[in-house]
Amino acid sequence: MMGYVHLVFLSTFLSVSMTSETFDAMEGEALVIKCPQWSSSVKVNWYHTDTNKIIPAEEEGSQVFSLERFLWFLPTSRQDSGNYSCVTHFPRNRTKSFNISVQVHPYKQGVCFPSQIRYPNDTGRGKIVCPTIDNYRNATIIQWYKDCKPLQGQRYFKGDKYIFINNPRKEDDGYYTCQFTYTHKRNVFNVSATRIFISKAKHSPLPPQILFPKDKGIIEVELGAALSLKCQARLGIKKQPIAVVTWDIDNIPVKHLDSSRFHEKTHFFEGREQEYYRETTLHITEIKKEDLQANFTCVAVNEMQNTKATVTLKLKAQSEDKLNHQGP
Ligand SMILES: *[C@@H]1O[C@H](CO)[C@@H](O)[C@H](O)[C@H]1NC(C)=O
Ligand SMILES: *[C@@H]1O[C@H](CO)[C@@H](O)[C@H](O)[C@H]1NC(C)=O
Ligand SMILES: *[C@@H]1O[C@H](CO)[C@@H](O)[C@H](O)[C@H]1NC(C)=O
Ligand SMILES: *[C@@H]1O[C@H](CO)[C@@H](O)[C@H](O)[C@H]1NC(C)=O
Ligand SMILES: *[C@@H]1O[C@H](CO)[C@@H](O)[C@H](O)[C@H]1NC(C)=O
Ligand SMILES: *[C@@H]1O[C@H](CO)[C@@H](O)[C@H](O)[C@H]1NC(C)=O
Ligand SMILES: *[C@@H]1O[C@H](CO)[C@@H](O)[C@H](O)[C@H]1NC(C)=O
Repeated sequence: MMGYVHLVFLSTFLSVSMTSETFDAMEGEALVIKCPQWSSSVKVNWYHTDTNKIIPAEEEGSQVFSLERFLWFLPTSRQDSGNYSCVTHFPRNRTKSFNISVQVHPYKQGVCFPSQIRYPNDTGRGKIVCPTIDNYRNATIIQWYKDCKPLQGQRYFKGDKYIFINNPRKEDDGYYTCQFTYTHKRNVFNVSATRIFISKAKHSPLPPQILFPKDKGIIEVELGAALSLKCQARLGIKKQPIAVVTWDIDNIPVKHLDSSRFHEKTHFFEGREQEYYRETTLHITEIKKEDLQANFTCVAVNEMQNTKATVTLKLKAQSEDKLNHQGP
């Protein structure tokens, strides 16, 4: 430890500055780390912080080596987790030192990226750039994954270093992993890098789903009584531009009915994950005999499609019983 600290202090007589950064990688892959500050005229040395040993340039069979601005792991192993530093030597004996922490993550079933993602999130309209690929010469992207499942489908356009998602929606948010191969002295290494994508889409529809009433449901009523029929539908993620939940009676919208017995009231709310719901209640002030023959249909509409659920009314069995039991 002392040796290295001594060395840094000697050569940083004029100015010392320290920064640190963490890199996460999967076990058994190639990893190239770039010293953060650099220009072609400066010299860079890499050290194992823990042992103070300088990391030499590539030799026959070396697995960890330095090459100018870059620190190479070909490939990573779990023992490589630890602290490294790069020291850049600027003119007039000014140096700058960076502490770099490397975390190598073992593979787990179904997990294709480290638990920590250090690459900046892509928040946008659909372009997702493969991180770090520029550090590897002649790298070829083999496959893109979303949440560790291979990406396929017409909505994805594959560029050489990025993918483009056509019309990104909320469901497209997630972890995007690019897997590429890098060939070094005829040895082929896998590399993967993952970043989070968050779509800028303000809202996205889902196929409308009527949670209640159940289609073909039968509701027991009493003549002369009041009734409230509630219809609740999920229409999408976030507030929808087209969002209608309404009642028809025998295919005629309630608001077009020439009757003071029927009134509709609507409200909306957001559930978990910003799911957008609308709920419309049909209030019937007084059930009449003709209502027992009618179809009461709840219609839910968004920009995708419409969905219906129809209920009918029948007289309550116990009210018949009551009638039967009345009298002497
Ligand atoms: C970098 O590591 C050295 C040696 O372990 C330590 O003295 C220094 O404080 C560290 N700097 C930062 C910014 O963590
Ligand atoms: C790396 O450095 C950090 C902080 O500087 C320290 O907490 C950690 O224990 C070090 N890791 C190893 C493997 O020495
Ligand atoms: C840089 O350091 C060397 C040796 O440590 C010394 O001889 C030289 O004068 C220094 N140059 C400047 C500009 O300080
Ligand atoms: C990236 O997105 C994730 C998930 O929404 C969030 O937890 C994280 O803070 C974001 N990171 C940055 C740098 O914005
Ligand atoms: C990169 O690929 C090109 C074209 O396939 C080839 O001509 C070139 O030699 C390759 N470079 C390296 C360093 O492998
Ligand atoms: C690279 O990854 C592919 C697919 O995950 C795997 O079949 C192949 O064996 C890996 N190659 C190396 C050198 O690890
Ligand atoms: C109610 O719906 C059923 C089933 O769709 C249909 O057979 C019947 O004719 C409808 N009744 C009225 C009054 O529209």
